Amino acid sequence: MTSTGPTFADLAHRAAARRDRPAYGHDALITCDRLVRIFSTDGVEVQALQGLDLLVREGELMALVGSSGSGKSTLMNILAGLDTPTAGAARVAGHDLLTMTAKDRLRYRREIVGFVWQQTSRNLLPYLTAAQNVALPMQLGGARTRRRDRSERALELLELLEVADCRDRRPQEMSGGQQQRVAIAVALANAPKVLLADEPTGELDSHTGEQIFAAFRTANEHLGTTIVIVTHDQAVAGEVRRTVAIRDGRTSTEVLRRTEIDAATGQEAVVAREYATLDRAGRLQLPAEYTEALGMRHRVALELERDHIGVWPDDSES
Ligand SMILES: Nc1ncnc2c1ncn2[C@@H]1O[C@H](COP(=O)(O)OP(=O)(O)OP(=O)(O)O)[C@@H](O)[C@H]1O
Ligand SMILES: [Mg+2]
Repeated sequence: MTSTGPTFADLAHRAAARRDRPAYGHDALITCDRLVRIFSTDGVEVQALQGLDLLVREGELMALVGSSGSGKSTLMNILAGLDTPTAGAARVAGHDLLTMTAKDRLRYRREIVGFVWQQTSRNLLPYLTAAQNVALPMQLGGARTRRRDRSERALELLELLEVADCRDRRPQEMSGGQQQRVAIAVALANAPKVLLADEPTGELDSHTGEQIFAAFRTANEHLGTTIVIVTHDQAVAGEVRRTVAIRDGRTSTEVLRRTEIDAATGQEAVVAREYATLDRAGRLQLPAEYTEALGMRHRVALELERDHIGVWPDDSES
C-alpha cells in the first residue's frame, strides 16, 4: 500500500456503511440515461443500445445478463471509456462520458475504472510476472509512487486475492483461474472507483468460475469497489443482490435478492423478486414470458388501484 491512501481496513469500513444504505437516489455512481449507440458498417446501421437506463449505487456488486447481441459489451466498452455513445447521457463518478476530452479520457481509464476481460490472455502482459503486471498500472498512473511502495501494494493485492504464490510467475506459468485473479489485482492497482468485468468466467470451468467470483466479492467487501459483472453464468448471477437484464439494447427487468428470516423455521433464506424498469417517461417493458402467457399484444387494459396498477389483456373487441 502507498503511504498516503486509506488502509484496507478504512475501505472495508466505508464499504460496509454504504452497503447498508438502501436508496438509489442521488448517490448513483454510474448513471446511464437513454443511452444510444449506433454502429454503421458498410451503410448498415445496428442499434446496439436503444435508450438504455441504468443506475448503479456506489459500493454495489451487480450482474448484467442478456442474450448474445443484446448490447452488454457495447455498454461495458462505453463505461470503460473505450467507446463513445451516439446519444443519451452517461456519467461515472462525476465524469461525463460524452463530453470528456481525450486527456480526461486517458486519466479516466487509468484512475477511475479498471477492467477484466473474458480472454485471460488480454488481461496480462505475457513477458511480465504477476507482481510486475500489477505494479505496471501504478507506474503509468498519475500519482508519483516509489518503486518499493508499488511492489508492496502489488503484493498486498495478490495476497488479498489469494494468488501471492504466483507473484514471480509469468502468465503462461499460471492456471486460467490464477491468471484471472491476477487480472483483478491489475485492475485494482490504481484503486479505481469502478471495476468492470465482461464475462470474466467465460473461459473457466464452473468451480474455477466460483473462485473468481469470490475474488470479486472480496474486492467489493474489502476495498469498497463498485463492481459490474457481465455474465452468462446463472450461478454467478444468483450470487449477487441485483441482476439487471438487458434486452435489445435496453434494460428490461431486474431481480433483487434479499436475505430474510423465515418466520416459521427461523432459518435464513434468500428471497428473489423480479422488477421491471420504469423510465422517466413512465415507459415500462413487461417481460415477454408474462405478456405471451396472457396473450397480450399491442394494447392492454389498465386500472389504477389504491396500491397497485392492474394490467389486463385487451378485452375491447371481445
Ligand atoms: N464495433 C461494432 N461494429 C458494428 N456492430 C457492432 C460492433 N460492436 C457490436 N456490434 C453489434 O451490436 C450488437 C450488440 O453487440 P454486443 O457485443 O454489445 O452484444 P453482447 O450482449 O455483448 O453479446 P455477447 O453475449 O455475444 O457477448 C450486436 O448486434 C453486434 O453485432
Ligand atoms: Mg459481449
